[in-house]
Amino acid sequence: MIVLGIESSCDETAAAVVEDGHRILSSVVASQTVIHRSYGGVVPELASRQHVKVIIPVVSEALQRAGLELSAVDAIAVTKGPGLVGSLLVGIGVAKGLAYATGKPLVAVNHLEGHIVAAFLEESPPSFPVVALVVSGGHTNLYVVNNYSNVTLVGRTRDDAAGEAFDKVAKFLDLGYPGGVVIDELARSGNPSAISFPRAYLEKDSLDFSFSGIKTAVVNFVRKYVDFNQSEGIGISGAVAKQLPVQIADIVASFQEAVVDVLVVKTCAAAQRFDASQVVVAGGVAANSRLRERLREEVTRLGLPLMLPRAELCTDNAA
Ligand code: KG4
Ligand code: ZN
Repeated sequence: MIVLGIESSCDETAAAVVEDGHRILSSVVASQTVIHRSYGGVVPELASRQHVKVIIPVVSEALQRAGLELSAVDAIAVTKGPGLVGSLLVGIGVAKGLAYATGKPLVAVNHLEGHIVAAFLEESPPSFPVVALVVSGGHTNLYVVNNYSNVTLVGRTRDDAAGEAFDKVAKFLDLGYPGGVVIDELARSGNPSAISFPRAYLEKDSLDFSFSGIKTAVVNFVRKYVDFNQSEGIGISGAVAKQLPVQIADIVASFQEAVVDVLVVKTCAAAQRFDASQVVVAGGVAANSRLRERLREEVTRLGLPLMLPRAELCTDNAA
């Protein structure tokens, strides 16, 4: 069974050809990072317009790299949401058009379930039940997955998503875009114990998350030492950064450590509570090197296998 997948939920235009549900024949991702960088975040209208420009070349390239004609495809799959409405419409419109023109079945895929099953590409099939953490720019959700079509939400963020907190902290500190990637890199040279930022564990036994407090804690920490005009920016080594008692790298390493602590503790708690056979972590923030390292340690300590997709399968893609 050969499936052509199309994904345009946010700011990546992606198409992939996958055989028998796990063998990737091609996966093409056209990133829009340069378009949104100067705004410090995704601008929905610009994202939709860029999808319109590149989606046909991206789909053609995916077929070409797989060495297949459209007629060799058995079904067409497309992200149906959640995502930016204007962006989703582009992928869905193209997928519907291709399905209609070729008479092939059209399969609508939930974006978050797509992130979870990315862990099973090229891997042996999962042993259920799986506990899955989906941690992206828009979501921080914990699921219990009993089979491919039985996915139950057991925890979620009550305010900001983890990726959103990374992006907002990076924007406040004027570190560049995309924030999560920049913080991951910079944190490597920082001290994660330099500042003890708050960890929001919420009520006893809660599997929900809250990340707006830690973002505010970072802002308050900086403002305690310097009174600056946001338009000046802070940057890694500017005049404002020099007035702080610690390096910017220490601030982001401490921030990242606090976010990672909560994600790891709650994921392990869910795995134990629901007697998981394995743990899956997916979504853009699953590309974070410190999160990957800590999860490997802690999930292994529970004696469970951890399935962490390669970084390019963690961020948005069509496979
Ligand atoms: O899943 P994704 O590609 O798009 C959706 O939000 O659906 O996730 C994007 C998010 C952004 O917030 C980005 O900053 C974050 O994932 N991200 C990271 C890293 N790479 C991407 N956050 C922390 N560390 C990373 N290495
Ligand atoms: Zn996503």
